[in-house]
Amino acid sequence: MNNFRKPILDVLRGQTPEHIPVWLMRQAGRYLPEYREIRAKSKNFLNMCLDSDLATKITLQPIRRFDMDAAILFADILLVPMALGVPLEFCEGEGPVLKKLEDEKSIDALFYESEKVSAVFETVRRVASSLPKKTALIGFCGAPWTVACYMVDGKGKTNFTRTQTWVKEKPELLQKLITRLLDASEMYLGAQIEAGAEVLQIFDSWAGLLSGTAFARFVIEPTQELVARMKKKYPQVPIIGFPREAREGYVPYVRQTGVDALSLDSSVELNFAKRELQSVKPLQGNLDPALLVQGGSEMIKTMENILSTLGPLHIANLGHGVVPETPPEHVTELVRFIQNFRI
Ligand code: CP3
Repeated sequence: MNNFRKPILDVLRGQTPEHIPVWLMRQAGRYLPEYREIRAKSKNFLNMCLDSDLATKITLQPIRRFDMDAAILFADILLVPMALGVPLEFCEGEGPVLKKLEDEKSIDALFYESEKVSAVFETVRRVASSLPKKTALIGFCGAPWTVACYMVDGKGKTNFTRTQTWVKEKPELLQKLITRLLDASEMYLGAQIEAGAEVLQIFDSWAGLLSGTAFARFVIEPTQELVARMKKKYPQVPIIGFPREAREGYVPYVRQTGVDALSLDSSVELNFAKRELQSVKPLQGNLDPALLVQGGSEMIKTMENILSTLGPLHIANLGHGVVPETPPEHVTELVRFIQNFRI
């Protein structure tokens, strides 16, 4: 087979890859000593995202060390609210803190300025020109619902109770915010593609907070619209959707949103996934990040079961991001095992 085919693009087009491709969410991050070294010298996380030199180096770190099949742009889903004019900080030990949206006026005031995130697109250009030929470059954004959660509650460790109140009591206001985010995300993703991103992933980390009609309105509908807009302009760029913890929502999500592949969290049962989801679209993910911390035969046995159940229309990945406690040697072992697995 042609060496220059990218296995991940094969899977996303529904074709059998030369080997099952692998990449990991948060593959560049605090578990890597070379990341911690750059982080120790930097003012803060946001500065690292907005410095193309550093962000390029960090994006390439896991590729150099592990030779994954895809690189994911080093950036953050909260750069979109920042580009919309929302003050954003990453506080040590606290995670992101944003200025909360108060009312309709504060939503009307949101205005997307692409220049505020131009460093991100420069990073994409630089990474695209330095990747090995078989390695794909993944761009991303947060789904409107998940980004709205952070903008309404102002931070992460809140269960997003204020946002959930808006769902029930101010759905029109939330809809207005979601529409703004949809427009901004369209521009943000378009610029990533123009700069060289070959695949997109839409992270809906808090999709699981909604169900029923609210899930349809705030998760499925905006994702469907975002995918449709991207497909209209860039039909060749595959899109992976990740409605984390959506449980029974996974089925309508994969059937209705138009995504090219579906990323599974660790709670999705494999035989259900094969039967109800993989019959619709290729799948990604599912390995519990805790097993990557543990390593050894338990990790390999579980991975082998995922690979043999889901077969070649699958991109190996975790059910969520790599955690800081992960020993890098476990990642080496996992990637080698997956890439040598006989389909
Ligand atoms: O390697 C990659 O996956 C690419 C880069 C990436 C980051 N964040 C870097 C990051 C991606 C794709 C994201 C997505 C992201 N950001 C999501 C969706 C995925 C998910 O985790 O559910 C969310 C919800 C965010 C928002 C965010 N960013 C939070 C809540 C936090 C704090 C929690 C944490 O893990 O520290 C961040 C910080 C962040 N984003 C770090 C990294 C490497 C840690 C920064 C550091 O302390 O060095």
